[in-house]
Amino acid sequence: NSLIPVIAIDGPTASGKGTVAHKVALRLGFHYLDSGALYRLTALSALRRETDLADEHALAKVAEHMQVNFDGAEILLANDNVSAAIRAEEVGNLASKIAALPAVRQALFAVQLGFRRAPGLVADGRDMGTVIFPHAKLKVFLTASTEARAQRRYKQLIDKGISANMEDLLSDLKARDDRDTHRAIAPLAPAEGAHILDTSNMTAEQAIEEVLSLYARRVPK
Ligand code: CDP
Ligand code: CDP
Repeated sequence: NSLIPVIAIDGPTASGKGTVAHKVALRLGFHYLDSGALYRLTALSALRRETDLADEHALAKVAEHMQVNFDGAEILLANDNVSAAIRAEEVGNLASKIAALPAVRQALFAVQLGFRRAPGLVADGRDMGTVIFPHAKLKVFLTASTEARAQRRYKQLIDKGISANMEDLLSDLKARDDRDTHRAIAPLAPAEGAHILDTSNMTAEQAIEEVLSLYARRVPK
């Protein structure tokens, strides 16, 4: 299992991790782990089960026992398609809070290792290179200016027909960055040996090509 290659892609919200990691996985024929979805699934599952949100141990049990299924682009909880439900604002907010609980992170640790399957894995999140896959073949810290990231979220919302306000987006983004960077456990930071890729002035396609070429240099065919 330790011979199966992993590409770890970490970075702040809206830096393009999901877009880039998913496409890189497709291009290489690798599996893809959206670790943020696991925190969102734990949050959704806890809400649905009416778990006591102040009970860290109970939340960790939810994380450990939930039946998650990633089926292509769809995410299933037991047999229920929750791809849209986990993206709700309420779920994202709860996810970011429970992500600060050590017992929850511990419970999701083993779940995440289980995604490492042949021929390889591209994993995206906040601590893929620092905590979950510290021996990843390639570690990328994907980032972009706060303004560029807010612009991306703005465009994503407008494209979906959801109205958005740039000032609110900027302040939400800064709050999320602050929480991710300053929490005591697994804070967001570039892993040792990570390649820092600032995509403020790059298209998603350019970022994908750059990650693929970094990987090709690490693993000459
Ligand atoms: O996963 P994360 O929150 O880091 O970002 P995402 O959900 O992949 O959203 C990034 C958005 O910015 C997507 O709509 C991309 O098409 C766009 N984008 C990008 O990912 N990378 C660039 N270099 C430029 C734009
Ligand atoms: O889309 P957004 O950037 O808001 O977050 P996400 O990638 O869907 O992850 C949801 C939440 O889980 C975030 O607020 C992160 O703080 C947290 N998370 C984490 O702590 N560790 C990870 N490896 C991935 C996500």
